[in-house]
Amino acid sequence: MRRIAVLISNSGSGSNLQALIDAQTAGYDGQIVAVISSKPHAYGLVRAYEADIPTEVLDFSEYREAGKPRSLYEQDLVHVLQKYAPDLIVCAGWMLVLSENFLRYFPWRVLNLHPGLLGEDGQPFRLPNGQFADPCTGLAGENAIKAVLAAGQPFAGSTVHVVVPSVDAGPVVMRGLVRVRQDDTVDSLYHRLKGKEHEIMVESLRQLCRPAKTVRQE
Ligand code: GRF
Repeated sequence: MRRIAVLISNSGSGSNLQALIDAQTAGYDGQIVAVISSKPHAYGLVRAYEADIPTEVLDFSEYREAGKPRSLYEQDLVHVLQKYAPDLIVCAGWMLVLSENFLRYFPWRVLNLHPGLLGEDGQPFRLPNGQFADPCTGLAGENAIKAVLAAGQPFAGSTVHVVVPSVDAGPVVMRGLVRVRQDDTVDSLYHRLKGKEHEIMVESLRQLCRPAKTVRQE
């Protein structure tokens, strides 16, 4: 069983964390061993508490107000994470960019959920209608949805990807698409996309937590 740590902020309501809590063990071969928040009032902390999952708050604004460097925050985050020895770290609504130095401690083991359709190998993602998707790079939450609506894109989507030092880039694990309806508002579209996000988060972990196959030599 893989050990999963989930990083959250207060950008959303922790609904993806909830989907991972609900699916743990039965939906994927993993268990959430810690939920760590960069904000003290993230609702995901309540969800974790109710599910008996250990929580930690590493309040980023306290560091900023005290004039402490970002590198110190990351170092402390590494220490907190190391206590739980995670096999995988999942950013589900986490708002801080993680540096190359941080990622060196957990190589290829940090996943992010981005509310846009990321391409790969420098190529944008092609939508089912042939059009290129707006990757919504650098945009979080509702701002990404607003951009999709403003551009008149026929689909909105989110991407689970491995975190690399460049922002909103890295190998794609899974994408989820929803069709934009004519009468969609930011709220209605984001609501449907969240449902899809919950599916791809769980399915990504189902695939990544699968035990490795042993090929026996005859
Ligand atoms: C998600 O939409 C995700 O794509 C983005 O932050 C949001 C978090 O939502 N990175 P929630 O807190 O899981 O509801």
